Amino acid sequence: MPVILKNDIYWVGAIDWNLRDFHGYTTFRGATYNSYLILDEKVTLVDTVKAAFYSEWIERIKELIDPAKIDYLICNHIEPDHSGSIPQFIKEYPNVQIFSTKMAQSGLTKYFGPGLPIKVVKTGETLNLGKRNINFIEVPMIHWPDSMFSYIPEEKLLLSNDGFGQHIATSGRFDDEVDQKEMMFEAKKYYANLLIHLSPLIQNTLKKVADLKLEIDMIAPSHGVVWRKDPGKIINAYNDWSLQKTTDKVLIIYDTMWNSTAKMAKTLVQEFTNARIEVKLQKLRSTHRSDIMTELLDAKGFMVGSPTLHRNLFPTISSFLCYLRGLKPQNKIAAAFGSYGWSGEAVEQVTNELKEIGLDVIEPGIRAQYAPSEDDLGQVKQLAQQMITKIKET
Ligand code: FEO
Repeated sequence: MPVILKNDIYWVGAIDWNLRDFHGYTTFRGATYNSYLILDEKVTLVDTVKAAFYSEWIERIKELIDPAKIDYLICNHIEPDHSGSIPQFIKEYPNVQIFSTKMAQSGLTKYFGPGLPIKVVKTGETLNLGKRNINFIEVPMIHWPDSMFSYIPEEKLLLSNDGFGQHIATSGRFDDEVDQKEMMFEAKKYYANLLIHLSPLIQNTLKKVADLKLEIDMIAPSHGVVWRKDPGKIINAYNDWSLQKTTDKVLIIYDTMWNSTAKMAKTLVQEFTNARIEVKLQKLRSTHRSDIMTELLDAKGFMVGSPTLHRNLFPTISSFLCYLRGLKPQNKIAAAFGSYGWSGEAVEQVTNELKEIGLDVIEPGIRAQYAPSEDDLGQVKQLAQQMITKIKET
């Protein structure tokens, strides 16, 4: 059933309890596609839902109003988890006027073909609904170039689409109705796997919103819970995450063939433990890359261990580094290590990848042939000490 946010403003979205993957990141708690209905003189929808949830969504709207009475549809973002129901909706209710950014107009046309009734809006423009207004704020790259926020000043309500979202399916619709640790973990995971590479733009957006001096007492994103108890909590978290603030935590990310790289990894763990620095061991065939990224978001350092296989990186390491290159975390100290049989290219390849990402890389990385000797493990310990020194200096 619909859930009331404010007087005559309702959540009418869909809950995807079974989603386990969102373009490559694991969503063990499912997701929601939030859509909002504003019952004013001009009845207005904000965002739709994934196409597969069209029926559930329309039935929820029908509990409040005949969908034929909807005048406006605001499309804050074109990614199909929010726009996927637009074609069916317009087919059934052709008198609705869509509002979107120019980029979104172009994207919607490419997704769904020409003929959609779209009016382009820009930052600073306002749409009057009767008793309320919607102010539009373009926020390119949160999460795509077409994205925008919709703000209702009379309600102090920010409809932020992907911004401030979390992939979590719950019966509670609000931040005060769910487990706080799960909620913040999923918000962090969402940021680490979708938004971290956009951090400078997110800093600009936070400044833009601050400059507009918007009064906000509720943030309603298009994924997860609505922030009504403490919207400042997620704004502050976004500030910290987009500044890429770190704590004295180190990740040892590795894979192994015959336990030689594993032995080096465990030696590193012991060295950081001895220095009383928080350390986590993350084997790539046991831990999904998206969970590693979540841990990495606030880690000050990490080391990547790869065996050499066929003169190359171990496949799980190669895949992880590809993911890392796209997400491009900054403000971190990094290093490479690994074992090899006869050619031993992997450590240099990892080192080069880390340098290309722009990290502070400790060189040289440490290689061990076949099985690490005491001397090799001594070098591994020295590598850990170099990182410990840098962590303590920063
Ligand atoms: Fe939730 Fe960028 O879509």
